[in-house]
Order: sequence, then structure tokens, then C-alpha cells
Amino acid sequence: MAHPKVTVIGAGNVGATTAQRIAEAGLADVVLVDIVEGLPQGKALDLLEAAPVLGHDMQVTGTNDYADTAGSDVIVVTSGLARQPGMSRDDLLAKNAGIVRSVVSQAAKVSPNAILVIVTNPLDAMCHIAMEASGFPRERVIGMAGVLDTARFRTFIAQELGVSVTNVSAFVLGGHGDTMVPLPRYTTVGGVPVTELIPAARLEELVTRARNGGAEIVALLKTGSAYYAPAAATYQMVDAILGDRHAILPCAAYLQGEYGQKGLFVGVPVQLGRGGIEKIVEIEMTADETAAFGRSAGAVKELVDRLAEMAREAGKAG
Ligand code: NAI
Ligand code: 2OP
Repeated sequence: MAHPKVTVIGAGNVGATTAQRIAEAGLADVVLVDIVEGLPQGKALDLLEAAPVLGHDMQVTGTNDYADTAGSDVIVVTSGLARQPGMSRDDLLAKNAGIVRSVVSQAAKVSPNAILVIVTNPLDAMCHIAMEASGFPRERVIGMAGVLDTARFRTFIAQELGVSVTNVSAFVLGGHGDTMVPLPRYTTVGGVPVTELIPAARLEELVTRARNGGAEIVALLKTGSAYYAPAAATYQMVDAILGDRHAILPCAAYLQGEYGQKGLFVGVPVQLGRGGIEKIVEIEMTADETAAFGRSAGAVKELVDRLAEMAREAGKAG
């Protein structure tokens, strides 16, 4: 039987590490794509040459040509720029929107039935661009952020209590990073609500650390951002899809009335399976939690509106 095929666009830190995890787990053949000539080919060959040692038979190929990605089951989009000195937020937003629009429209054309997993930042806004550029239904455009934000929160809770990370189940809604909305009431350790194990003030400190998790790593690395945990989170989503696991994971999804939001990508719990998003899971929230979620959705809307404004300005100038 043919292996499933996953295209990973962007052969940088997150893209190459995601490709590595997918191939080495024996999940799928991987096509790594980048705009830089030689980079995806070199990394793919290096990954392929690890296969005899690790004992898997997945194909890993590198390319600059979207024809090689045809018939992909899943397309992971990690291509983009990091913010450079002197670059404004708007510059970054416009540049990454241009990159995501271009790569998604080329990839979607040759893999019309694929499921898109978006990673490029600013995440929630890039999901909008990907949905527009692909014309795919909302079931097949999913953003990676919640699994990463939750993993960071779970790590800090496990460290605090000295328990296994596998015992900690956390719940985070909303946009990526700064605007994430952790729900301690739904966060449990071995089935016990975390609110019974960690005092509220200390829990708030752990929430703040998880919210700033991306920035904490940037401050340490100095020349780039996190990629091991982001790649692991992306891998978990691809595995849930290809394995038809019906797994409930926090992902950015296009809301059509759920959680009181319409026409906006925001992080919510979704059930992932072979068709992509099978269900958006709605939970009861308190007034405070609803307000925090609304603020987070508002921050996403601001970016989406700014993108629309920039497109209008560019249209007038052109
Ligand atoms: P990186 O700089 O290592 O890799 C980006 C790659 O994209 C480079 O190899 C570059 O050549 C490629 N690229 C640029 N324009 C392209 C185009 N038009 N077509 C094909 N490839 C193109 O960056 P890294 O660390 O891999 O991060 C990638 C993106 O993922 C960034 O936007 C980052 O902020 C985001 N990210 C998002 C996370 C999330 O939770 N959603 C977590 C971690 C990173
Ligand atoms: C992170 O949270 C940069 O979004 C990326 O690490």
C-alpha cells in the first residue's frame, strides 16, 4: 500500500524538524519545499540517509517545484520570515501574508483534496489567507498554536508539582501566545482540577510564562524562535489526521457562530480525523472566560482587518 504523502512548505527550523518527525515515525512520505534552491534537497537527502540507521522506509524528497507535491494528503505551511530589525509588525504581516498566499495557492492547485495545517505567524491571520488562497472548506484549513501553547503550560505545571507531564491535561483557547486564554477549571492533573493543587497566584505566574513561551525561547536563542516543540505539536496534528484518531486538540479553526464568533479563526478544541476538523467542541465558560476569549478574538480580528486594509491600499496604489 502506498504511504500517505505530506508536503512541508518551508525547509527552515520548524519545517525540517516536522519533516524529520513525520518520516522517522513512519507516518508518511514527505516532500520538503522551499524557495531557496538546494536547501530542501539537501535537508531531505540528509533525512533520507538517516532512514537505514533508524529503520524506516519513508521517502523524503526536497524540491522547489510544486509539481512534486501533487496528490498530497496533508500540506504543512511553515514558510515565512521572522521579524528583522527595522521591520514593523505591518511589514511582517504583509510579507508573510504574501508568502502564505503564494505557496498555498500553488500547493492547493495540485493537491485539491489536501488538508492544510498552517504554522506561519501571525498564525490566526495566516489561516485566513490560507483559506482564501486555497478555497478549501473550513474542515480542511487548521492552524497550529493551541497544542504548542498547551504543551508549554503542561510542562510548567508538571515541573511545579513534580509529576509526569503525561498526567497533566491542559485547556487553552484563543489566539496564539499573547492572547491565549488558559482555562484552569478544565486543566487537570491525574484527573484532579489544577485549581485544587496550585494556589491561584502561582497558577497565574505559570499562565503568564506559557503565554510568553515563544518570547522566552527567542530571548535565549537570540537568532531564531522555537522549533522542537512547535514541530512536535504540528506532528501530533498530522498524526491525528492521517491516523483518523478523532482526537480532541486545541487548534485554530474558522468559527461560524461557535463561541459567539463568526468568520474568524480562533483557537478552540476541535476533533481531528481523516477529513480534518470533524467537530468543534463547545464548552461552558464563565463570564470572565468569555470576556477573555472575546478579547483574544478581537486581537485576531484587528490583524485580519489590517490585512484587508493593506490590500485596499495596495489596490488603490496599483
Ligand atoms: P525559518 O526561517 O527557519 O524557516 C522559514 C523558511 O521559509 C526558510 O527556509 C525560508 O527560505 C522559507 N521561505 C520563505 N519564503 C518562502 C516561499 N515563498 N516559499 C517557500 N519557502 C519560503 O523559520 P522557522 O523557525 O522554521 O519558523 C517558520 C514560521 O513558523 C515563522 O513564521 C514562525 O514565526 C512560525 N512559528 C509558528 C509557531 C506557531 O505556534 N504557530 C511556532 C513556531 C514558529
Ligand atoms: C512560538 O510560540 C514563535 O510562535 C512561535 O514559539
